[in-house]
Amino acid sequence: MTTKEKLSVDGLIVPAFKPLLTLEDARKRLADIVNIPTRKDDVFISSYPKSGNHWLNAIVPRLLNSSLDTSHRMSNQFLELISDLHELQNAPSPRIMTSHLPYRYLPKENNGKIFHSIRNPKDVAVSAFHHYTTDPMVKDYVHPDWAHFLDDFLRGECYYGSWFEREKEWKEAARENPGKILIVYYEDLKKNGMETMQQISNFLGTSSDPTFLQAVYDDCSFEKVKEREKGKPWEFIYRKGEVGDWKSFFTVEQSEKLERVFNEKMKDSTLKIQWS
Ligand code: A3P
Repeated sequence: MTTKEKLSVDGLIVPAFKPLLTLEDARKRLADIVNIPTRKDDVFISSYPKSGNHWLNAIVPRLLNSSLDTSHRMSNQFLELISDLHELQNAPSPRIMTSHLPYRYLPKENNGKIFHSIRNPKDVAVSAFHHYTTDPMVKDYVHPDWAHFLDDFLRGECYYGSWFEREKEWKEAARENPGKILIVYYEDLKKNGMETMQQISNFLGTSSDPTFLQAVYDDCSFEKVKEREKGKPWEFIYRKGEVGDWKSFFTVEQSEKLERVFNEKMKDSTLKIQWS
């Protein structure tokens, strides 16, 4: 089985979507993002794919708006995928920009706040496998066999590169920039919803009224968003929204192998994962 060669920009594998179709275009876009002038009230949501970006993109605009109503569309704010970055320059504050880019590819003079979600890499791999083998834009670039796909994932031969390298960088960036980067664990948002919602609203400086936070949390539940996105071309992204779905896909050997890679690659990182 041969798959199409993925586009790698100085070692970072990016999906071959407009405007990243050629190496030259992709390199230019990444350089342009680094130089975006930022504002103090900008909010960035940037996570490794399949880790909770859509979820935060549902919650954050509602908190900022103090309302369940929002016109925010993640796809209109996707730094590496929108057609014209200049449109962001005239966008009203507070701007919410989203991305899957590593920290060092985000604007370098960053005055805003950055959310980064982290999820058990076993669930990330399963979620990525389903997304990439379903999405017509990327399916020819990935191996359709789970075992093969997982090996590519463990080697970092996947979109946005090695999960291990990326998360190590983010954890370090969060340590170096307290108050600027908030790491949200997918599992915490799922299991300790209200506590995590309080952390998110404290970080944003928005209402911490428990009734409002509960209403936002409920309005952004997996079931609610899946229902809202029904019939849209991207509906498949809302697959299961569970913690621990990896148990249906990983063999014992595969699970042990991923943990071996984790222990090796993350030995000097303080990142803790909720494995089960
Ligand atoms: P699954 O494939 O395991 O269902 P991202 O948005 O970072 O690309 O992550 C996509 C994953 O988050 C998918 O996981 C998707 O179902 C899940 N997800 C999206 N919205 C969610 C929500 N509101 N609540 C819980 N999980 C959600």
